[in-house]
Amino acid sequence: MKIFVLNGPNLGRLGTRQTDIYGTTTYAELVALCQQVEPEADVRQTDDEAQMIGWLHEAADSGTPVVLNPGAWSHYSYALRDAAALAPVVIEVHLSQTAAREEFRHHSVISAIARGTITGLGVEGYRAAIRALQSH
Ligand code: DQA
Repeated sequence: MKIFVLNGPNLGRLGTRQTDIYGTTTYAELVALCQQVEPEADVRQTDDEAQMIGWLHEAADSGTPVVLNPGAWSHYSYALRDAAALAPVVIEVHLSQTAAREEFRHHSVISAIARGTITGLGVEGYRAAIRALQSH
């Protein structure tokens, strides 16, 4: 099943970035985990908001479901939310438990357009989100 797993800013640094919060799984290992659960998963990461919006348009045009970790854009990017709203279905994932962190992380502008949101389960959240899309 063709799906997109789209990761926003700084997620390419997984494995070395704030490992107490995000764990020690590297980005390459996360890609492998996603493709183990769904061999047709197209897993991408960008630090460029315009690039991410382009990928969400691609999902909309091709009817491809999306697992989305928008990183910090979650908390303020209405442009990303509008683009995500065009995709057929979006499951939002956060590695960390954002509700237990700084106040600015408590609200996601993406959640209202997501089918569901998984937070705080680390990379297991991606596995759960892909499974949810598979049985959707
Ligand atoms: C994150 C949480 C965001 O607040 C943060 O800016 C990230 C990662 C997560 O996966 O826990 O970059 O989306």
